Amino acid sequence: MTEEKLSTFTAPKGTYDLLPPESATFLAIRERLSAPARRAGYGYIETPVFEDVKLFSRGVGESTDIVTKEMYNLTTKGGDELALRPEGTASVLRAALQANLHKQGNLPVKLWYSGSYYRYERAQKGRYRQFAQVGAEAIGAEDPALDAELIILADDAFRSLGLRDYRLLLNSLGDQRCRPAYRAALVAFLAGLDLDEETRRRAEINPLRVLDDKRESVQAQLGDAPKLRDHLCEECKAYDAKVRELLTANGVAFVDDPKLVRGLDYYTRTTFEFVHDGLGAQSAIGGGGRYDGLSEMIGGPALPSVGWALGVDRSYLALEAEGVALDLPAATSVYVVALGEEAKNVLFAKVVELRRAGVATDLAFGVKSIKNAMKSADRSGARFALIAGDRDLAEGVVQLKDLTTGEQTPVALAALVTTLKEKQL
Ligand code: HAM
Repeated sequence: MTEEKLSTFTAPKGTYDLLPPESATFLAIRERLSAPARRAGYGYIETPVFEDVKLFSRGVGESTDIVTKEMYNLTTKGGDELALRPEGTASVLRAALQANLHKQGNLPVKLWYSGSYYRYERAQKGRYRQFAQVGAEAIGAEDPALDAELIILADDAFRSLGLRDYRLLLNSLGDQRCRPAYRAALVAFLAGLDLDEETRRRAEINPLRVLDDKRESVQAQLGDAPKLRDHLCEECKAYDAKVRELLTANGVAFVDDPKLVRGLDYYTRTTFEFVHDGLGAQSAIGGGGRYDGLSEMIGGPALPSVGWALGVDRSYLALEAEGVALDLPAATSVYVVALGEEAKNVLFAKVVELRRAGVATDLAFGVKSIKNAMKSADRSGARFALIAGDRDLAEGVVQLKDLTTGEQTPVALAALVTTLKEKQL
């Protein structure tokens, strides 16, 4: 057998490992991004990371890059055609329909989720093949206040991280009444442009997608493209106006973006994206919108719904770009160094007791020298080191060293836990 190279230690392209200490910030981001939704009555849902491929091809859309180019498809040994989830909305709606959540109480059914998603994209900073989202979906209600609620919750989530340099882009994509006329106007306009074969094909399947084309050569020709805003029906206009009014009344600023169509086909009416100014090309830190037709597209009843997903990886990068460090509790508050066999036994028990009392405590294992153990204490970030040899214990004390001031005081072993608890670690 040939020897495997060390490159087997390399994570697959477009993925990365989350390691301490940065991983603690990731956990905190997930926690803070979801907290506003949790406070607003959204319940936690978890679905499988893979689904029947048809759920996404029907739901997300046959003309989208996500489905045509970026999906991780797999055929099981049993012959099932599955795909790793490229996004969460279709899965959450599928799960809600399967469990009949929409029949069990008042609508909307409000759900939030947090997990990994998979897209075979061109990997670069901020664009990964496995990435994390925190999402929220409100299923089964058509009410502009619900769209506004979700947008405000996302804004509160980003603010709670300390982010400031981002903007909210807002658009309305109309509905099944007004979109067809707009679509026809756009198709006629696109037919007169100089487009390559693939873009022309895309223009036929989903002309709105062409508006989202990032290439300069395409964008340069779109200046006079008909605007959806000018084709919205009265209902869609009124709905959109109400969402805007509620956002403004509640202190959430937005920018109109008539070209915001988003990369998924299920949207109707409200669409929005949060973009961060410090992230370069991959600037969307979150996005979402209303998807009134998705339930029917995947074979369910009519269930108008709205939701968003916020990017955890990009939120992390946005924090870095703004130089914001999250205020996280110390991983270790007390670091214990036992010198000698007897001391080890007694202090091991104290470590267990401290942890059970809620104090984050670690212990030096395999101590060879006190110098080395004290270095570990410093590296752990603990505020206090607790040091004792057999002689200290014979006197019933341990030495408590404040690692910031260097000050060391003996503390009675019996009073140790209460003394440390008083220091509010
Ligand atoms: P999306 O805009 O495709 O929407 O993704 C939401 C967020 O996930 C993006 O704004 C971005 O922060 C992050 N994201 C997407 N792709 C990547 C990637 N390759 N690498 C890193 N981060 C990424 C959706 O997924 C919809 N399901 C949102 C939604 C929920 N609409 C209605 N409900």
